[in-house]
Amino acid sequence: MLSPETTQVSSPAIAIEGLKVHFGARSAGGSAVRAVDGVTLSIPRGTFHGVIGESGCGKTTLARTIIGLQRETEGRILVSGKDRATWRHDDPKSFAREIQFIFQDPLGSMSRRQTVEQSLEEPLLIHKAGSAADRQKRIAELLELVSLPDTVRDRLPRSLSGGQRQRVSIARALALNPSILVCDEPLSALDVSIRAQIVRLFLELQQKLGLTIVMIAHDLAVIREICTTVTVMYLGRVVEEGKTADLFANPAHPYTRALLSAVPSADPRIEQTRQRILLEGDPPSPRAIPSGCRFHTRCPFADDACAKIDPVLDDARHGGRVACINADTLPGTAAI
Ligand SMILES: Nc1ncnc2c1ncn2[C@@H]1O[C@H](COP(=O)(O)OP(=O)(O)OP(=O)(O)O)[C@@H](O)[C@H]1O
Ligand SMILES: [Mg+2]
Repeated sequence: MLSPETTQVSSPAIAIEGLKVHFGARSAGGSAVRAVDGVTLSIPRGTFHGVIGESGCGKTTLARTIIGLQRETEGRILVSGKDRATWRHDDPKSFAREIQFIFQDPLGSMSRRQTVEQSLEEPLLIHKAGSAADRQKRIAELLELVSLPDTVRDRLPRSLSGGQRQRVSIARALALNPSILVCDEPLSALDVSIRAQIVRLFLELQQKLGLTIVMIAHDLAVIREICTTVTVMYLGRVVEEGKTADLFANPAHPYTRALLSAVPSADPRIEQTRQRILLEGDPPSPRAIPSGCRFHTRCPFADDACAKIDPVLDDARHGGRVACINADTLPGTAAI
């Protein structure tokens, strides 16, 4: 039998079971916003995991709930094998040493009046991590880790470039040596020319430190480049998941196919066989989620059954899982 310690090490970094996050459920007369509406997801330790989906599908809500900035309506989240809600409540400091969050806007995690040094020292002070000399040493290490020169120590956020600011916020998130980073669009506020550098930094850090990284991003090319596994969300649900390379090469869900239609494939065979699907209109409101498969109102392949049957995640041909009752018989699927 496994010892409790071994069990914990081998448990997924993040395990989400039946998660629902509804807003305004109790407001008079109105229907709730079902931002996250039954998500079950497991992210193994040491993986670089992407979360994609249109605006409003619940990515940020999911990320905020994982980290505990948002309370769940239903379901459970395990972080490194431990219940997130009780861990964060009973021992918030040890929880913060395990998992950290990186926001889209680096200024959001930095005080305007704090120098880079103060910003990096703050978590060390809060967690009483070592002597003043130890803290100075750690700040130097952190700056090196994110490839910032020591000379930025005395700078204020507004005097830094967008890329430098994001490097500082990454360094700050790493100050306590967490094992998991949850990143909500950490690249979208950056100039395209800087993005590639920050992408490389995330990859380097993930490998060097053995981190588990959950990366929410709109830029699908970035997800394809850096994530080993990916989850596709639609209206608060996971509709498909799998290894990024396999899922991008052979997306099984009509929604994923539509989403990826816009991204050219490096493989010309896939380019030739892949049927382009145009997504029309906006997703329905999360206050009024369609019956059956929630994508059926926009799905070019929907039949009568799709309006009635709410599909569960099932094995997909690419080795991952897909929630579509017709996934095996859809026309135009690339690479069979
Ligand atoms: N605090 C809140 N109160 C009410 N509704 C909310 C709240 N936070 C989010 N929502 C709603 O929940 C849904 C999901 O929002 P969320 O921000 O999680 O989506 P997202 O996938 O991150 O979108 P984007 O790609 O634009 O960042 C949206 O309809 C949003 O308006
Ligand atoms: Mg968001």
